[in-house]
Amino acid sequence: MRLTILLLVLSLIKLPAFTPLHAQDEDRQQIVARYTSAANEPGDATKGKLVFESEKSNCKKCHSLGNKEVKAGPDLLVIGDKFDRNQIIQSVLEPSARIHPDHASHAITTVDGKIITGVLQSQSLEFLELINDKGETVKIATDTIDEQIRSSTSLMPADLYKVLSESQFRDLVEYLTTLKQKEGIAYPGMPDSFKKVTKLASVEALHDEGNRFDHPVCIIAKPGSQNTYMVVEQKTRRIYQLTVTPGEEKKELWADLSHEAITGTYEGVLCLAFHPDFLKNRKYYLNYHVRENDVFSPVIVERTAVADLSIDSGGASRRLLKIEQPTVLHWGGMLAFGPDGYLYIGAGDGGPQEDPLGNGQNLKRHLGKILRIDVDHQDHGKPYAIPRDNPFRNAGSSALPEIWAYGFRMPWRFSWDSKTKEMYVGDIGQNLYEEINMPRLGENHGWNVYEAFTPFSKQYLREGETFTAPVIAYRRKHGVSVTGGYVYRGSRSPSYVGKYIFADFESKTIWAMTQKDRKLVDIRIIGKVPEKPCSFGVDHDGELFIVGYQGTIYRLLLDDSVYE
Ligand code: HEC
Repeated sequence: MRLTILLLVLSLIKLPAFTPLHAQDEDRQQIVARYTSAANEPGDATKGKLVFESEKSNCKKCHSLGNKEVKAGPDLLVIGDKFDRNQIIQSVLEPSARIHPDHASHAITTVDGKIITGVLQSQSLEFLELINDKGETVKIATDTIDEQIRSSTSLMPADLYKVLSESQFRDLVEYLTTLKQKEGIAYPGMPDSFKKVTKLASVEALHDEGNRFDHPVCIIAKPGSQNTYMVVEQKTRRIYQLTVTPGEEKKELWADLSHEAITGTYEGVLCLAFHPDFLKNRKYYLNYHVRENDVFSPVIVERTAVADLSIDSGGASRRLLKIEQPTVLHWGGMLAFGPDGYLYIGAGDGGPQEDPLGNGQNLKRHLGKILRIDVDHQDHGKPYAIPRDNPFRNAGSSALPEIWAYGFRMPWRFSWDSKTKEMYVGDIGQNLYEEINMPRLGENHGWNVYEAFTPFSKQYLREGETFTAPVIAYRRKHGVSVTGGYVYRGSRSPSYVGKYIFADFESKTIWAMTQKDRKLVDIRIIGKVPEKPCSFGVDHDGELFIVGYQGTIYRLLLDDSVYE
């Protein structure tokens, strides 16, 4: 459904302020405990469906079941795969305890003092659109906005259970647990279940407890400095240089970007890439977020180190590219130099859910693409050059020349096999699947015409367009947010050589996969990460790191001889 045909409510309604969770009284705690224990017993799913659909429960006002309606809350078609029974109970009784990142509430204060809350739908230079708790789309002119904050309270009311008896609530929960994806191997690249290796891999903290990080998102080995790594902290926007040698550990501040980049729940500095010639030209690159004229954008910047490369040289960054977004969601986040020496950038579809603007397929937008630029040369009017063989270099006004491949939703992490030079992209999925793609120049990887192997929407399907399927996709029961990793080329664990290692941010599962001609050959679960894995890294010898979002960087210790 297009946003433009949604009901526009132009009059601004003053909504009551949020009630913070901690203000709840003792009684509520007891009632919640009673409903929780009631719903822990088996219920009647058929009756629960009626509860879900009833006007009394109100669930359908804010939630769709796979029919692609734009509503304030997430689609619940496969919630039984995504959450276990306890998590489902908690999402209804304590909605703010864990908020779906794409459906967080935003509170807008207008210049004349009105407060409007809702889930952000889109944002442009002129307008911002929210879906409020009545399911209506509210359009607000940006020049009337005084302040905009992401709220820590869910738009989903915390007292919905009150209209339900304990047994109705039990039936409702039973029904939600039955909402699962169909089983069966529909596609060779989407196995139903995964074998485990005979001996699971383990992890070991790279650093002392006292040297943990604040929301680290990236670790990169420093060129030419064995045992020295750069660690990027998302929220503080600081970059640390960490040196770990036997018996000695040093953590030094390398750069502080807090005066250039914004911060937020998921906003901040996301990634760092050293120039292939860093040892000579001292240059490195960052992907971080800004908000300018009230528009949220990821930007790509260049910085330099001091002459002896011991620290960032200070001063302002040189900005190369800014990618304006309609919302604060799905911003890609990656940048890395490819084997060809060009800088590759992952740009997300820009949100909101389901890519209603069709950015992934729109060649006139940078959103939903892998971009590629040449930072060593400059085309007229640009701080970089377009590589000669970029597919749309000469497309004139019909496509942007920076595009290298397209049809992505949220290509959060990508890498190349250092031996075969093949590229692997972990693309975070919509409602149903997480996927690993292996894009090549000029290819369309499907979103939002396809979600993984399955058709998603025909709205932006162009005639004659061909699509490249992922190598592997996995369902909600295995995880909800893929973290792309690396092909192992280290020397410590020969049986893993050539296998692509990746993980899921929520389920914390780690997999090792092999492919041939971009078709899945083998995939195994090889372990679990103690913290949510948000990135992988490679040391100077090809051994792997995993970045735990709660603060620990781990070495991944692959056990050898586990493949029979
Ligand atoms: C006023 C709108 C609204 C109503 C009514 C509502 N929800 Fe929600 N719901 C939301 C929003 C917004 C979110 C996402 C924010 C969050 O995670 O709390 C959400 C999240 C959820 C989630 C977690 C989904 C996920 O993928 O993380 C579940 C489960 C859920 N709701 C179930 C229900 C049920 C069952 C009902 C009816 C009893 C209901 N909701 C009624 C707005 C609503």
